[in-house]
Amino acid sequence: MTFLTAYDAPTAAAVDEAGVDMILVGDSVGNTMLGYDSTLPVTVEEILSHTSAVTRATEDALVIADMPFMSYGADPDDAIETAGRMLKEAGAQAIKHESGPHTVELTERLVQNGIPVMAHLGLSPQKVNETGNLTRRATEAEEAQEILELAKAHEEAGAFAVLLEHIPANVAERVTDALDVPTIGIGAGPETSGQGLIITDVLGVGDWVPPFAKQYADVGAEMAKGIEGFKEEVETGDFPAEDHYTQAELDDWD
Ligand code: KIV
Repeated sequence: MTFLTAYDAPTAAAVDEAGVDMILVGDSVGNTMLGYDSTLPVTVEEILSHTSAVTRATEDALVIADMPFMSYGADPDDAIETAGRMLKEAGAQAIKHESGPHTVELTERLVQNGIPVMAHLGLSPQKVNETGNLTRRATEAEEAQEILELAKAHEEAGAFAVLLEHIPANVAERVTDALDVPTIGIGAGPETSGQGLIITDVLGVGDWVPPFAKQYADVGAEMAKGIEGFKEEVETGDFPAEDHYTQAELDDWD
């Protein structure tokens, strides 16, 4: 099972055409595309807009909209309404939330309302102010056990899958074995049911790649090549060439 993020129509179309199973419109759009230095400023309206672009370009992959920071933790009724907007207005087929004890009951209510839920455990970038960093989680038995119990609780509440981010492979393996629903690992080793990555890490766009990611292309270098090529040819006068413009017969034009 394969899982990638996408935030715009052309990228979603390429991911979908490649046969990737799930596309997450992650709040990682904040740091990867919108120039924020964390995911915290990302708004519901931004996720709705990016999700709409992705669903318009996707035929087969399951599109999952991420619930942004503070859109689901405080008031469950608001959370259900916001999650519903992701499906009704943006055409997502499911939502994901960064999960904890506070999202178990919410997951049950969302599922009862016909909103499929992916839970997200392990590294939780929305909690960066509480944890102080974005490093690997579950390196101690107590936290590993907590993740295991939360994964089971979210499965029982009706989550259709659990995303495990940046945890040791042996912890992810144990969580996967304990669940009937699939796990998707992002930096969680080879034994999860599926593998996920952030699209900009895969394509080589941006200036930072997490230690667990693998870059498969250098789109950043190709972008620079295209932009520099355009600038250079405008400056030398090689662009536009005859192929790139037209003339009109304007005999009656004084
Ligand atoms: O927002 C995001 O892209 C995520 C990834 C870690 C999967 O949650």
